[in-house]
Amino acid sequence: MPAGFQLGVATSAFQIEGAAREDGKSPSIWDTFCRQPGAIGDGSNADIACDHYHRMEDDVRLMQDLGIRAYRFSISWPRILPNGRGRVEPRGLSFYHRLVDALLAAGITPFATLYHWDLPQVLQDQGGWPARERVEDFVRYADVVTASLGDRVKHWVTHNEPWCIAILGHWVGCHAPGLKNPAAALAAAHHVLLSHGAAAPVIRANSPDCRVGICLNLSPAVAASSREEDLEAARHYDGYFNRWFLDPLYGHGYPEDMMADYRKAGILPDGPLPFVREGDLARIATPCDFLGVNYYTREICRSATAVSPENAAAAASGAVSASPHVEKTEMGWEVYPEGLFETLRRLFVGYRVPSIYVLENGCSYSDGPNAQGVIEDERRIRYLGAHIEQALHAMACGLPLAGYFVWSLMDNFEWQHGFRQRFGLVWMDYATQRRIPKQSAWWYSATTRRLCGSAPIARSGLREGALCRPKY
Ligand code: GCO
Repeated sequence: MPAGFQLGVATSAFQIEGAAREDGKSPSIWDTFCRQPGAIGDGSNADIACDHYHRMEDDVRLMQDLGIRAYRFSISWPRILPNGRGRVEPRGLSFYHRLVDALLAAGITPFATLYHWDLPQVLQDQGGWPARERVEDFVRYADVVTASLGDRVKHWVTHNEPWCIAILGHWVGCHAPGLKNPAAALAAAHHVLLSHGAAAPVIRANSPDCRVGICLNLSPAVAASSREEDLEAARHYDGYFNRWFLDPLYGHGYPEDMMADYRKAGILPDGPLPFVREGDLARIATPCDFLGVNYYTREICRSATAVSPENAAAAASGAVSASPHVEKTEMGWEVYPEGLFETLRRLFVGYRVPSIYVLENGCSYSDGPNAQGVIEDERRIRYLGAHIEQALHAMACGLPLAGYFVWSLMDNFEWQHGFRQRFGLVWMDYATQRRIPKQSAWWYSATTRRLCGSAPIARSGLREGALCRPKY
């Protein structure tokens, strides 16, 4: 691995922290959404989750013991600014100070995401992301956080997955705030992208020599056959999922074909986009230091499922899906490692992205402890191994990959699925809060050592095969 290559693990605040009402934190839109009957598959909420807020030091030690080199986490906006703006909650900020200091002391590079979906509910009450005022609110929030942590955190991600924020949250409605309004979704997407561009210079000013980027979830969209209708379905899906976000970020504006599709479907009016003002597109395209990519799967698109420009909503409601014949994870997502290489190549060739981090890659499998307490998650090892091979292949081909992060350090609250889906390298026993590294955690530890040289020595002497001690 080239010097400086970052190999790590990722989490997000709402999915692991718990402590939902502690130290002055106000509710986020996800706290509210979890209370809606039927919103979360297992009826759970993230009030406690992995209790990371109280176990942070142990979790950092666990990462250190596993030889993890880099950690991507997110910051909870309602912990820092309980009113969305204005008064800063020092106890919230202090938690992230302690986290960053603990990481640095353990030799782990912090990557901080400013927004991983937990908008303060008070700002939702003022119109949420479909309202343009959120742009200024986000910039102020980014300013507070980066002014405070920017001396030590040098990798900043503005937003995690604008597609999920906008489309799943405001169009499909399966994520907070649970709206089903396509026009609001496109306005939300615009404001999220705009707030990224507006915040980037503020972050840079606060955090000397830092690297700033945004993180998109991307999936190659391929036609199920060479039939014209299937090719058309793939074009549409690619526009809806990938290009609607990539094109404006890289200076091409919103894709014409998609604007036409959305106009035809009555989602956008004829004429200029109602939410775009002069200067917005230049601001969104503010050059950044890197693009973060979350890669999990690809989409196989077919017209038989009625994806057409006339019915753009069909695509959002799951009308496009993987073929039933391929290998899938427990999320129902096809295992397609080559798609990682294809995505990285496309970003470089099609968009000239100068530097890319894979900020999430992983799989949900529910393998749990056997009689000896060992978790043999062979399928996860195969999944991660195959994807890391593709990443290495991309680098060998000269693609500018600067890092790779596994989603996730530990099993956690998987949004609308609750605790039923397990993405972790570390098993979570939610009843006892005990953490048990799975076989994949040891494998990743060895892989990190092999690819990046010797890992820091485990401080607590935790070794592969040893049962995890209660301190975790
Ligand atoms: C996302 C998020 C993560 C998820 C992960 C698995 O991509 O949805 O960034 O929070 O938990 O991707 O679905």
